[in-house]
Amino acid sequence: MAKVPIDAVDVAGKRVLVRVDFNVPLTGDGGVLDDRRIRMALPTLQSVLDRGGRLVLMSHLGRPSGTGFESQYSLQPVAERLAHLLPDVDVTLAPDDCIGPAARAAVDASVPGSIVLLENLRFHAGEKKNDPEFAAVLAGFGDIYVNDAFGTAHRDHASMVGVPEAMAGCPRVAGRLLQAELTFLSESIEHARPPFVAVLGGAKVSDKLGAIGNLLPRVDAVVIGGGMAYTFLSVLGVEIGRSLFEEDMVDAASRILEQAESTGTRLLLPVDSLCAPSPKHPGDAQAIAGDMPGDLMGLDIGPESSAAAATLLRTASTIVWNGPMGVCEVPPFDTGSRAVAEAVVSATSQGAISIIGGGETAAAMEAFGCAQGVSHVSTGGGASLQMLEGRSFPSVHLLDNA
Ligand code: 3PG
Repeated sequence: MAKVPIDAVDVAGKRVLVRVDFNVPLTGDGGVLDDRRIRMALPTLQSVLDRGGRLVLMSHLGRPSGTGFESQYSLQPVAERLAHLLPDVDVTLAPDDCIGPAARAAVDASVPGSIVLLENLRFHAGEKKNDPEFAAVLAGFGDIYVNDAFGTAHRDHASMVGVPEAMAGCPRVAGRLLQAELTFLSESIEHARPPFVAVLGGAKVSDKLGAIGNLLPRVDAVVIGGGMAYTFLSVLGVEIGRSLFEEDMVDAASRILEQAESTGTRLLLPVDSLCAPSPKHPGDAQAIAGDMPGDLMGLDIGPESSAAAATLLRTASTIVWNGPMGVCEVPPFDTGSRAVAEAVVSATSQGAISIIGGGETAAAMEAFGCAQGVSHVSTGGGASLQMLEGRSFPSVHLLDNA
C-alpha cells in the first residue's frame, strides 16, 4: 500500500519530527567514517527546510546500554557532519538526553528552516522496549511524524512504532528515502521484469534461508556464493575441505536444491573456488575446481564461477544482490564479488533494474567504485534482508495510506 509522502504535507511553521537512521560507522577519533546514511536523508530534510518546516530529528547510534549518556555513542559527530553537509542551516544537537529539559527547550526555540537533532534515542531503555511513556514525550515534540529510517524499519522500537501511534490524528508520512527503498525492495521485486536473477552470498545459509525461500519462486536463476555455498556443495557430494559448513542446514539446503529442481529455477553454485588454508593466508590463494584438499578452505568463488555468474547477469533485466561472494575485505578474495559487481553495473547500463542489499554488499559496491552504476543501493542491512524475505513492517504499516 502506497504511503503519503512528506512532499504532500504542508510543513510551513510546523515541528516536523523525523525518524532518521544516522547509525553510521565512526572513526576512532570522533569523526564519521561513512556518511552515506546521512547524505541519503538529505532530500527529505531539504524538502522540509525549503518549505519552512522546523525539523526535529531522532536517531539511534550503535548499541549503548540504555542507562543514560555514553560519550562514545553521542550523535555529536553526526551533528557536525550534518552541519557540514547543510552549511546554510542552523543545526543544534540537543545535549545529553533526547527527552530531557534541554531537548524540550531546543525544540521550543527552533525556528522555520532549522534542525534540532535529539541525542541518541538508545540512551533510554524505553526506545528498544517501545515504552509508551517514552514515546509520548517524543511525540510531544512534533506536529507531523515522518519515517525516513529505512535501516531501522524492521525494529518495533518507540521512535518507529510508539511515537507514530501516539501521534494518531497528526500526519504520519513517509520520507523520500523510505519511499525509494520500499519501491525498489518491494515493488520492483514484486513486478520484476524477467529474466530475474538473484545473487545471494555471505557466510551462512541460515542467514539467507528466508530470502532464498521467498525469491526462489519469483526468479529465473539464483547465483549462490560466499561461505554459504559450501554447505550446498557438500550436500551435492563435493569435498569442501575446511570450508564453512553448517551441519544443521543440511536438510534446508537439500530442500532448496529440490525446490529449484522442481520449479526449474537455475541454481548457479560455484564450480571452482579461490582456496587457502585460511583468510590469513591470501598469498597462498589458489583456484581449485571440484573437490578441495582437506587442509584448504574456499574463500571466494573461482574464475570459472565468476565468469559464469557474469555471463548470466549480463542478460538479466532485474537483479537483486545480497551478500558478498567471498571474504571480500581480504584481497584477492574480493575478486569474485568484484566480477559480479562489474557485471551488475554492465547489465544496469543496458537497462536492467539492479538492487543491492545494504551492509556488507553496499560497502563492497562502494569499495569497488560501482555504487553509482546500479539502480539502488539500500541503506538497510537487516531491513533490506527482511524485505527480501517478503516481510512487512509495523513501522511502515502505521503510516498514512496515500
Ligand atoms: C542497522 O544498522 O542495521 C540499523 O541501524 C539497525 O541497528 P540495530 O541492528 O542496532 O537495531
